[in-house]
Amino acid sequence: LRLGDALGATDSLKKGMGALKSPLIREQAARISPMPALVAQIAATLSDEPPVNPRDGNVIRAGLNAEVDELRGLASGARGVIAKLEATERERTSIPSLKVRYNNIFGYYIEITKTNLERVPADYERKQTLVSAERFTTPALKELERKILTAESALKELELQIFTKLLRDLQSHAATILETARAVGEFDALMSLAKVARHRGYVRPTINTGLRIRVRDGRHPVLEAGMRAGEFVPNDLDAEPDTRQILLITGPNMAGKSTYLRQVALIAIMAQIGSFVPAAEATIGLIDRVLTRIGARDELRRGESTFMVEMSETARLLKGLSERSLLLLDEVGRGTSTFDGLAIAWAVAEYLHDQTRAKVLFATHFHELTDLARERPRVKNLSMAVREWGDEVIFLRRVIEQPASRSYGIEVARLAGLPDSIITRAREILANLEQGELDEAGMPRIARDRRGKTLAPQLGLFSPREERIVDELRALDIERMTPMDALNALARLSARLKQKK
Ligand SMILES: Nc1ncnc2c1ncn2[C@@H]1O[C@H](COP(=O)(O)OP(=O)(O)O)[C@@H](O)[C@H]1O
Ligand SMILES: [Mg+2]
Repeated sequence: LRLGDALGATDSLKKGMGALKSPLIREQAARISPMPALVAQIAATLSDEPPVNPRDGNVIRAGLNAEVDELRGLASGARGVIAKLEATERERTSIPSLKVRYNNIFGYYIEITKTNLERVPADYERKQTLVSAERFTTPALKELERKILTAESALKELELQIFTKLLRDLQSHAATILETARAVGEFDALMSLAKVARHRGYVRPTINTGLRIRVRDGRHPVLEAGMRAGEFVPNDLDAEPDTRQILLITGPNMAGKSTYLRQVALIAIMAQIGSFVPAAEATIGLIDRVLTRIGARDELRRGESTFMVEMSETARLLKGLSERSLLLLDEVGRGTSTFDGLAIAWAVAEYLHDQTRAKVLFATHFHELTDLARERPRVKNLSMAVREWGDEVIFLRRVIEQPASRSYGIEVARLAGLPDSIITRAREILANLEQGELDEAGMPRIARDRRGKTLAPQLGLFSPREERIVDELRALDIERMTPMDALNALARLSARLKQKK
């Protein structure tokens, strides 16, 4: 039926498409064959609401086949006879609750409740005993049952035959139907692209044989669709193998790096499939492939760790890059220790610069990598702009032509709700790390606290509040205090310590 509906719609579709100017669409229209005879055959053969499974009957439209109509009449006529039989048996036995019923296992039967059993006539044959009732049959009921079941199974068989013949007729037109479906599908895809282009303000990209990709005010087509108007922040792109081959994008987590990478890939692909693109302007030098290392898809079930997957994907990507390739690397080296990860990310970026001409967008949380731009001329530092506001960071979602000054991980952790004591401690550890790795005693600085004492690499003994109290205690100048002052100070500190833990 669906096929009939769809084919039935192709006639006016073909006419409409044929009236358009586009040669591509006119060519698609020419490939559409409406096949009115098949449409009519489907409509004449199938009933209006056939079952999902053609073996369930009621498939064939009434009036198509005399034998089908006759068998249906027999089957439904017999049901009327059953109802009549029920009525006469009730009268004959004087059992008003007597029922004639059907089930798949026992067929038709007369059901009599236990209380009425003494009124059962002698010609009843027992079929089945239940807790509260007995089931019987009679010669007349048996004869009826045979007629009904025969008619019904003959009917199903015949309906199935007619349906199968229809399928065979359709099959002989399969090639034409499929070609029509393909042309309609292509047109449907173009229509959808045209629709979103109009509704969402896309522009026609310029495609040329150059190597440069430029986008002004590009947007992520999917993310933007889920946002209020004006909420998505558009961004530019300028990538080109001779001067801006490797664009290193730094910025904190949540700043919008991954979104930017993906939107660039989507714009490039959309341009090349013939779509308008979500941007104010785009010029795309033909691309031969878009390669990505994105997200941390874990293949642990196949026995590979995230890091292994990341590395093997990266290895695969590095092969066969041409100057027309667009490579997106998102957070390469995240799945291992910081130094390992940074070292790998650095080496990969160097390799891409020195050995390939592919255009690369390299998003990384290692802001140390930005130093690479000093040594490699075709590496450019971009970052996602953030504004610092007291202790807070505000994401502006704007790509700017400068490296991130730092990674803001702790600020983001704070935004995400890590407890203050952890945030405070993380700031101390970060300060130590930024001073260098080891202290004078050769202890890792990461374990030192603010006062230079080396602690075990775990959280300090005291909470920040207690530490402040200890600091105050340390600052007390006992020599100069009266006993009363000293007692008061002691009482104050003790009271603060006892405040809710
Ligand atoms: N250009 C943008 N305009 C508005 N919101 C954005 C933009 N880019 C990213 N976002 C928002 O920020 C979130 C984090 O972006 P994402 O690209 O995953 O950041 P990163 O990769 O830097 O951690 C996105 O889910 C989206 O909600
Ligand atoms: Mg990301």
